[in-house]
Amino acid sequence: MLAREIKPNIFWVGGIDWNLRNFHGYSTERGSTYNAYLIIDEKVTLVDTVKHHLVDEMLERIRSIIDPSKIDYIVSNHVEMDHSGGLPRMMELAPNAVIVTSVNGESGLKNHFATLAALAEKNFGKNFKVVKQGDSLSLGKYTLNFAPIPMVHWPDSMVTYVPEAKLLLSNDAFGQHLASEHLFDYQVGWAVVREEAAKYYANIVLPYDKNVQAALTAIKNLRWEIDMIAPSHGVILTEHISDLLELYQRWSTHSYEHKHAHIHPTHESRPQAVIIYDTMWGSTEKMAKSIQSALETVGLPVSTYSLTHSHISNIITAVMEARYVFIGSPTLNNQMLPTMAAMISYMLGLKPRNKIGFVFGSYGWGGQATKLIEEALRPLDWNFPTKAYAVKYIPTTDALVELQQLVTDSVLKLDSK
Ligand code: FEO
Repeated sequence: MLAREIKPNIFWVGGIDWNLRNFHGYSTERGSTYNAYLIIDEKVTLVDTVKHHLVDEMLERIRSIIDPSKIDYIVSNHVEMDHSGGLPRMMELAPNAVIVTSVNGESGLKNHFATLAALAEKNFGKNFKVVKQGDSLSLGKYTLNFAPIPMVHWPDSMVTYVPEAKLLLSNDAFGQHLASEHLFDYQVGWAVVREEAAKYYANIVLPYDKNVQAALTAIKNLRWEIDMIAPSHGVILTEHISDLLELYQRWSTHSYEHKHAHIHPTHESRPQAVIIYDTMWGSTEKMAKSIQSALETVGLPVSTYSLTHSHISNIITAVMEARYVFIGSPTLNNQMLPTMAAMISYMLGLKPRNKIGFVFGSYGWGGQATKLIEEALRPLDWNFPTKAYAVKYIPTTDALVELQQLVTDSVLKLDSK
């Protein structure tokens, strides 16, 4: 396996996780990559490493360029083990290398790896160089500038910028879980990159909106000229840098460019409404389809997900991009269905904001589910224009018409004024 040059004397030396299908609960149908970058200069530098099981692949790529023992610096932008898993092995091969990391990075790495803590103690900390906002490090022809971006994704996260190459090594920020034989966005195509970047944002970064805003502002204020963003997952951005920055701005402010898309359709065909439901004997499903029909009739793009068949990490992506969220469950043993409870728990953690919500469902005698869903969603501070709509046993044709009227006359009304 070979290193691949992305800028003069800067090489991608990462690992491709073709068969990854579950990233702690996030379904990764397209696999992922852990991107590491090797800079050949007077001081040879490795930026980030890879997940433990791909260390040999990374080493093979490094060895195609240089003996790993020649590495002087290893920049650790982020402690999480998909990027630091290879660090202990690298320090065995290059024991004099200096790990360059943030304040939280140093403590985090020592907490994760006893061998690194022991090495630091033995060498009086000489194997660690802590950097802060505005610090830089000359490698010879190239310089590294550092900026912490706490909570994008962990408290230790930082980015590294190489001004002479106009290259931002952004670690988790701007990543996508996407394994590909291609290195660059234009080779894979924007539709796929956008889809995976959205899913990544929704499942990893969404709760940290203020931190993303702070990171975007910090990067803007630094006036870095950037013609390449090389994240630690997925493809490298060259053609779609401004597109993705714009989306990060939108997602982190929970704003909607196309609030009136049903009146003024635009080229951006993201779903504007999402229906999430589960069903026992088909009644709640009938209600879901009825709502879908009402939304289609007024020209509102809508996606409909059954919790039995769809993964919550795909559904949360649709929720992030939607203005309207319709949520339906029947009552089972005086509760909502467990699949809905799991979905709500996931949403409470990821905190999608600025939604117009509506709850519906069917019941036999107790009918608690819809009220429980409304209560459970309260911390998200969504706008519910009307109370939940519930039907006993099987929805009649009249009930479905009433449901549709409620949707068009009350739920959609907020945005059509
Ligand atoms: Fe890709 Fe937060 O690790």
